Amino acid sequence: MERRRFLSDIARYAALCSVVPNDWRVVARPRYVDDPFALGVASGDPTSTGAVLWTRLAPKPFEPEGGMPGQRPIVDWEVADDEAFTRIVRRGRYTAAPELAYSVHVEVEGLAADRWYFYRFRAGDAVSPVGRVRTTPAAGAMNPLRFGVASCQHYEAGLYTALDHLSRERCDLVTHLGDYIYERSGTDGNVRRHHGLEIRTVEDYRTRYSQYKLDPALQAAHAMCPWLVTWDDHEVDNNYAGEFGENEMESAEQMRARRAAGYQAWWEHQPVRVPRARSWADLTIRRSTDWGALARFWMLDTRQYRDDQACGDGTKAVPCGDWANPSRTILGAQQEQWLGDGLGASRAHWQVLGQQVPIAPYDSVPGPETRLYMDGWSGYPANRDRVLAQIATKARNRTVVLTGDVHSNWVNELHAGFDRPDRETIAAEFVGTSIASGGDGEAMWRGAAEVMPENPHVKWHSARRGYMVCDVRPDVWTTEYREVAYVTRPGAPVTTPATFRVEHGKPGITRV
Ligand SMILES: [Fe+2]
Repeated sequence: MERRRFLSDIARYAALCSVVPNDWRVVARPRYVDDPFALGVASGDPTSTGAVLWTRLAPKPFEPEGGMPGQRPIVDWEVADDEAFTRIVRRGRYTAAPELAYSVHVEVEGLAADRWYFYRFRAGDAVSPVGRVRTTPAAGAMNPLRFGVASCQHYEAGLYTALDHLSRERCDLVTHLGDYIYERSGTDGNVRRHHGLEIRTVEDYRTRYSQYKLDPALQAAHAMCPWLVTWDDHEVDNNYAGEFGENEMESAEQMRARRAAGYQAWWEHQPVRVPRARSWADLTIRRSTDWGALARFWMLDTRQYRDDQACGDGTKAVPCGDWANPSRTILGAQQEQWLGDGLGASRAHWQVLGQQVPIAPYDSVPGPETRLYMDGWSGYPANRDRVLAQIATKARNRTVVLTGDVHSNWVNELHAGFDRPDRETIAAEFVGTSIASGGDGEAMWRGAAEVMPENPHVKWHSARRGYMVCDVRPDVWTTEYREVAYVTRPGAPVTTPATFRVEHGKPGITRV
């Protein structure tokens, strides 16, 4: 923990330094005193013919420009059949750019479907660590899939023991559902009004990513397999909504500038394939990925387009204010249409929504009053029930929602709408806990046991740290919850406190 505090201070002070002016020369054989690959390697957004290969040159990650000399260095990349790189199948060159933080995003093509490969980068005399990447099965194939789900890794809150365990799972893929970084320093992610400690500029966010990316467990988890990454709020600002910041004094213009900085740094540090936008503040990251014919992943963005939370961000008694207004949105009209049309057109066997905040409601008080979490889909009930109605019509009982955000595990049966208690079960939601956020965690949230009778769609809950592993086959979806009992000291073993099954085409979730 001492080390973590030290690094977080360094990151904060480094962000205050000025930026070195850029030199525009391309340098074919740069020489580095320090390892330019200190931030590791990653792959992501796989297809049946390729994937994105990522690294970022940063020999001195906490110095301005990552310690790079301000030129345009050439980076060579190689993809091989074997870990020793004796059978190289693809290679190429990439020119890194100072204005994109010397990040490298190679979109490799021409690989065979459903195959593992090894990749590495070379810059000057330096060679990167080796990463593993795999392609997806070909269109039409029903090969099984095993993948991990992670979210919420507040660096100062705890060690990445869960990611260390995840890196040893035999996963084909990892989905990360956001809060990859926290814009706020300190050990408590929920401390409010410490805006003096918050980051705002693209240099600030880059330094924060550098701090996180230096963690060996995070690097190992990335090197293991391709990731599908989306963001949540802390990649920019706690609980922000569209152009509304958490701090109500922040103008829409200030929030757009902050979004541009946070979104750009996110792109620079993630192995993602998303279209370029006219402004970084408008980067569109929703996208789908097919795993053969078995599953289609829909990676959603519930932050950028949402209306401001009704009646404040916290847990509130409903109805209140504008809460039920049907024009309020969490997805934005375009994304809602894209998802609804897409679910109708897709012939994938399972539909998988990778997204941020809980869809199922959770009434957190006993008795007749209902108190709901305004930052989740429960704060946007009309939009939530429209999406559930689309799932009920187009992908009933073959849709699984993966959720992060709340630093706790929840297994929720989703109904065709939560406007009435008697609507039928049409999908499953697996909410995965945090990697580190919230510190060691506990068996359950305070008061959770008492309110379970008022939340009959909730099948299981736990508030320890960890991740999920999902095994997807045509007939059965299995989700295993993995937990570690502590993250404030090293070495916690991993356990599997609960496993759940969803049968294709049948309502409900069964505990194994
Ligand atoms: Fe979080």
